[in-house]
Parts: sequence; structure tokens; C-alpha cells
Amino acid sequence: MRILIVYGTTEGQTRKIAEFVADIVREHGHEAALFDASAVAETAPARCQAAILAGSVHMGRYQSALVHHARAWHEQLNAMPSVFISVSLSAAGNDPHERSEIDEIAQTMLRDTGWHADATLHAAGALKFTQYDFFKRWIMRAIAKQHQADASKDSDTEYTDWSAVKAFVESFLAKLPTGDSTKAG
Ligand SMILES: Cc1cc2nc3c(=O)[nH]c(=O)nc-3n(C[C@H](O)[C@H](O)[C@H](O)COP(=O)(O)O)c2cc1C
Repeated sequence: MRILIVYGTTEGQTRKIAEFVADIVREHGHEAALFDASAVAETAPARCQAAILAGSVHMGRYQSALVHHARAWHEQLNAMPSVFISVSLSAAGNDPHERSEIDEIAQTMLRDTGWHADATLHAAGALKFTQYDFFKRWIMRAIAKQHQADASKDSDTEYTDWSAVKAFVESFLAKLPTGDSTKAG
């Protein structure tokens, strides 16, 4: 089966997650069609039988290119198995308020685009102080403090729970219809 994987990223963590997802997809005998949302053809879903979209939250929003494609493709996505991976710093903590806020951000995006994803994973992202400009550094120190993350050092910290991402993707793959000749095992 050919599986479309499209990601929106600003500092690169969601690209890293999408590449990890593509590796799992291939390990399970499928073909991974992996694209950055800012450089994917409008026709990309046409040759795919399932889809995984991923985007990261910046000031309460996902990348506009990702949202654009979710909206433009919603009918095709709704006609195939599809899931969403939402990457944020809020997903790194256990605060129920933050968790419900981040889920509301994801559900609002899905509602606004008309895409009915079969499931959403809230994946923890990363703090990348080495990549931030002055303003991002300032914003992220404040956000990191709210999350009790260590923003005192100007280094990068990865919060992504790779085993949770793997479990989510493998559960999605296990539910795909079988019988496709390209699927091994
Ligand atoms: C300027 C900025 C704003 C952010 N805003 C939010 C936010 O509103 N909520 C949140 O949970 N995380 C927020 N984050 C954390 C990002 O979602 C996290 O760093 C993620 O790993 C970024 O993924 P990316 O590298 O794929 O862009 C923000 C990060 C930056 C740099």
C-alpha cells in the first residue's frame, strides 16, 4: 500500500518525526510517499491509499501549508484511512488544562478543514534554542517556564516519546485493509 505522509514543520522536529514514521511504514512493507507540506503537489493523495499528516503548533496554530492541504484534500482524506500527528510542547507535560487546550487546537483545525481523521496523536516536540532568533528565544523561555521545562540553558531538548509515536503508527497500520500485493508479511 502507498501511504502519503505530509508534514508541516518550522524548526524541524516534525520533519524528524515524519521521517521516523516513514521508516516504520516501510518496515511494515508499505511504500511511504513523504513530503513537506510546503512542497507537495496538490495531486499527491491521488495515488495513495492511506494518509498520515503531521504538523506542529506555534502560537496555537499549525503551519498554514499543512492546513491548506488538509482543507483542499479533505474529501480524498475522508475516503481513505487517515490520521493526524499534532506536535507541541503542551504534549510533553501532564497538565490536564494544557492537554485539553492542545486537543481543542487540533479538533478546531480538523473541524475547519472538514477532514475527519480517524485518530489524533499528541506528540511532544522539542525546544531548539540553538535555532531560535531573539524573539523566538524570548517567547520560548516564557512557554518553557510554564511547562517547567529547563529554559535556563540555551541548548536543545527533545521531548518526543518515540515509542508512543511508533505504537500509534503501528496501530494505524494494523487496521489497514489487507490483500494489497505491495504489503509484505
Ligand atoms: C515561537 C514558538 C511558538 C510556540 N507555540 C506553542 C504553542 O502555542 N503551544 C505549544 O504547545 N507549543 C508551542 N511551541 C512548541 C513547538 O510546538 C515545539 O517546539 C515543536 O517541537 C515545534 O515543531 P517543529 O520543529 O516541527 O516546528 C512553540 C514553539 C515556538 C518556537
